[in-house]
Amino acid sequence: MTIGYEEINGCLHVDGVSLKKIAQDYGTPTYVYSAANIKSQYDAIAGAMKRAFPEDAKQPKLCYACKANSNVAILSYLRSLGAALEIVSEGELKRGLKAGFNANDIVSTGVGKTDSEITSCLKVGIHQFNIESIPELENINKIAGEIGIGATVVFRLNPSVSGGGHHKISTGRTRDKFGISEESLYEAYQMASDMEHVTPVGISMHIGSQVFTVESFKTAFEKLPAIVKNLRDSGHSVTRLDIGGGFPIVYKDEDLLDLDRYAEWVRDIILPLDVEIIMEPGRYLVGNAGVLLTRVAYVKETSTRDFLVIDAAMNDLIRPTLYEAYHGIEAVENRDAPKKTYDVVGPICETGDTFSTDRDLTQMARGDLAIIQSTGAYGYCMASNYNTRGLPAEIFVMDDKAHEIKPRQSVEDIINTDIVPDFLK
Ligand code: LLP
Repeated sequence: MTIGYEEINGCLHVDGVSLKKIAQDYGTPTYVYSAANIKSQYDAIAGAMKRAFPEDAKQPKLCYACKANSNVAILSYLRSLGAALEIVSEGELKRGLKAGFNANDIVSTGVGKTDSEITSCLKVGIHQFNIESIPELENINKIAGEIGIGATVVFRLNPSVSGGGHHKISTGRTRDKFGISEESLYEAYQMASDMEHVTPVGISMHIGSQVFTVESFKTAFEKLPAIVKNLRDSGHSVTRLDIGGGFPIVYKDEDLLDLDRYAEWVRDIILPLDVEIIMEPGRYLVGNAGVLLTRVAYVKETSTRDFLVIDAAMNDLIRPTLYEAYHGIEAVENRDAPKKTYDVVGPICETGDTFSTDRDLTQMARGDLAIIQSTGAYGYCMASNYNTRGLPAEIFVMDDKAHEIKPRQSVEDIINTDIVPDFLK
């Protein structure tokens, strides 16, 4: 079973705390995260890099891509383990600062950075902007000039490499909105060098998420040495390479990326370029650490199928319907019960509100608890209020103790922000 999760006296526990007790104390649906799991994932990446790199080499800066799970408690925990941070919005910048990250450990990415976000990032002094287009470069130069604070920038290369576990999360293909082509990169670098308020220092790259065609990483990395050489030959300084995230996790029975191989590619291809290396893992650090704890609302048996109607819905976890993503489902108790085939669905009024079809699970009844696995990444942070459902609670478990890190959102919290114009009252 996943690190942090174990069956004790017939009941699933996370880091020593029973999921039954968590459901009693905090209700359902609720996201639950294992600190032990996050730590083991962090150690796995950091450890692979340490093993591969010579002792005197500088280790990569591991910037946690907090879009995967941006609760400030999770950020604080990852900071305590040694992570730096990758952000994509002013909101994530604020969360990162609240979690105690040094501004110099924050990199800002994204294709549509707002003026306000750019200004805030400049004022606190982030490590770098990963620039996605020439208009963005011009805008950052303009804002930096206006407020009198120079910007350190790298350019995101679109390496024209297909990666990513689903077409919606592939980012490195020529047709994708991300990054700039190699030819434009030279032009952009030159433009930036001629500008007064930006300093170009390198290149970034991110080919996609849940990349399990792992050779794609190598193919993309291999494009970098020649580009760095061309830039240097033209008199530019290249001191940083940000090689992105995308490390896959197990959802079902996928063959995983061998991190040691990945680390060796970084050592063999990137390290000789004598640059600061930045990585942006998101899902890998938190994905398997989380489960969505849910209760069976009804068992609906029909002539053709048996439905397990649970109290979690697509508004709580959208990945299955958005990406046809597989998530394991398991009962919390009665785990030796005979198997039965179910469609597991939520209460929302559309057929897309389905977590799995024809899934063999242990037999369950109304009121039983179940978990939807591997939901620590892109779970809570993609949740919505669809059907006027409050957002779930989030619980972080560490050393046999459960901590509520986000209370369940009340329906009043949602409704009270609606404003009815006077003439409709
Ligand atoms: N860096 C950049 C520039 C990114 O765009 C992303 C993810 C990451 C790093 C982190 O990638 P990771 O290591 O987590 O694969 N909502 C989708 C995933 C979207 C990923 C977006 N960018 C899902 O649920 O699968």
